[in-house]
Amino acid sequence: MTKDAVRQRIAELTRLIDYHNHRYYILDDPEITDADYDRLFDELTQLESQYPDLQLPDSPTQRVGAAPTTEFLSVKRAVPMLSLNKAIIPDEFDDFDRRVREGLAGDSDIIEYVTEPKLDGLAVELVYENSILTLGLTRGDGVTGEDITANLRTVKTVPLKLRDCDASLVEVRGEIIMTKGDFARLNKERESAGEELYANPRNTAAGSVRQLDPNVTASRPLKFYTYACGRIAGVTIQNQWELLRFLTRVGFAITPESKLCYQRDEVLLRYHHLNEQRATLDYDIDGMVVKVNSFRQQQKLGELSRSPRWAIAMKFPPQQEETVVEDIVVQVGRTGVLTPVAHLKPVRVGGVEVKRATLHNYDEVTRKDIRIGDHVIIQRAGDVIPEVVKPLTTKRTGAERQFTMPGSCPICGSVVVRPEGEANHRCPNSVCPAQVAERIIHFASKGGVNIDGLGPKFIEQLLAAGLIHSFADLYYLQHNDLANLERMADKSTINLLAAIEKSKRCDLEHLIVALGINNVGEHVASLLAEHFGSIDTLSTTTADVLGTVEGIGPIVAQSIRDFFDNDRNREVLARLQQAWQVFPEYSIVAGPKPLAGKTFVLTGGLQKYSRDQAKKKLQALGATVTSSVSKKTDFVVAGADPGSKYEQALKLKIAILSEDDFLKLIGES
Ligand code: IVH
Repeated sequence: MTKDAVRQRIAELTRLIDYHNHRYYILDDPEITDADYDRLFDELTQLESQYPDLQLPDSPTQRVGAAPTTEFLSVKRAVPMLSLNKAIIPDEFDDFDRRVREGLAGDSDIIEYVTEPKLDGLAVELVYENSILTLGLTRGDGVTGEDITANLRTVKTVPLKLRDCDASLVEVRGEIIMTKGDFARLNKERESAGEELYANPRNTAAGSVRQLDPNVTASRPLKFYTYACGRIAGVTIQNQWELLRFLTRVGFAITPESKLCYQRDEVLLRYHHLNEQRATLDYDIDGMVVKVNSFRQQQKLGELSRSPRWAIAMKFPPQQEETVVEDIVVQVGRTGVLTPVAHLKPVRVGGVEVKRATLHNYDEVTRKDIRIGDHVIIQRAGDVIPEVVKPLTTKRTGAERQFTMPGSCPICGSVVVRPEGEANHRCPNSVCPAQVAERIIHFASKGGVNIDGLGPKFIEQLLAAGLIHSFADLYYLQHNDLANLERMADKSTINLLAAIEKSKRCDLEHLIVALGINNVGEHVASLLAEHFGSIDTLSTTTADVLGTVEGIGPIVAQSIRDFFDNDRNREVLARLQQAWQVFPEYSIVAGPKPLAGKTFVLTGGLQKYSRDQAKKKLQALGATVTSSVSKKTDFVVAGADPGSKYEQALKLKIAILSEDDFLKLIGES
């Protein structure tokens, strides 16, 4: 073959393979057999390896992973990726609809809505210049994303080149997901290979895309569905529905469940329909997105702190499933509390396999009348722990067994007590192995001193090997102690020792939380840190004085006193102090107060910080944080599922900040 003939054949093969890819992956309607496809692919691979200079930029052979990288580059985008406000229940759609109508008052065109499934995956953006894929980004904080082009290239439903497209620039946005079917297959493979199973499709998809080695991404069955665009140059598109058709035409997949709706009732009907379909769809969705169809109307409505006024996410009610309580097992917690846990016949709820559900305490079990062997309804709302809603009493056969609380601790055998007025049964033995383990787990957790990589399993291993007996012992571990443990590579040992060392730099609040004093959580810990400033002072303050702090009642005050009066705790604390040498002290953040004079209100859940922490961050910068919205409020920070304060802010036209905006403001993004 002459070089020209090769050039031609390469171009032809590239086009042919792309065509068959599209038929197979996007249209789900292949025209040729896998074997024929492989032959084309092999021929192209071979020609390209002989003539590397003739390889085309959109060659399908480039879908196999490129070389690993050490980090992702940050890229700033021209048009930020917005996030959606959430309507919690469908009734709130009417509020949204009303706001849209108010915003469009005087507009003579009718208002149409496009409804789409809200995909539960990883949001990404793909940039096509003159139809060639040149950049792929994660959503990041909306404005800046990470360059994951090499990874996205390996996803078969990501076109490397747009088909018959005149646009000189197209920024396509959508979601990378893993279908439930692919997820199940992947886990099955892992199971037979003896590898740890993945938890759910969403996290697996997100984790697969954010891999430094594109070969790993290439090996995972991922799909890309598109639903929006950033900039488009060279073609004019008037509305969302037209956009979806355009995107399909140039080679993308859209969810077949997207629909154009002409009126309110139709939107609600779609919502109920999708909710019913949800369990049988092959991908996880966590709601329905409603968008005003017309781009002109969208523009008129505009956006509020990076959430458009023209779109909303309608969440689905928590998912319920039926299963069987195979057993009720008592777990012993950090403070000795015995918690009955239902062991369930495994069932998938909202894309996650559920095997356990906490029953909280004995009263709850009797109140709900949950028996071993019962058929029960369980539910999971969002990411929260699954719960047993109720038993299906009509399904009882008589073989069910009533649960009784054990008289002695299932771990150490101590006689169980139930203190007056308490809902909980307790194991009173503070050196009960279960309590010891839970205390160390709590100490090392994110809310505590945060020792990266030291999870429950590892802690159990250290305890079993007799290497630790309390959290203080962690700081005396030597390289050899760890290296001799099973499945411990040298590198992990070094990392873990470094993480343990690093944890000494935590702040006073976290250290107080980590100690695991009864009734002292994050909020109380921050009050204590603020008022007493050091472990030394705290440990020597009387219960009376502790009780004078606003927000600390007599019971909490007594728990604190009891903790520091306990000989064993004093011993552990002394040993900890010896290792740390100095304990952290409370420090008022000095420095500029750029938010002085500004009043903030927090509503909804933030991902990165608890409300208390967010409040403190703002206060450190001089802001005042109040609990209700009034005309004097300057900003409302709205996290997930904001409540009435959010509505109030809209009414009073107070600036609303998303979590991203908030992080920016405090200089953390
Ligand atoms: S539109 C208005 N459409 O939801 C522009 N987003 O909170 C917002 N998402 O980060 C994007 N399905 O990851 C849009 N059909 C859909 C969606 C969708 C899922 C995600 C997306 C985004 C988040 C918005």
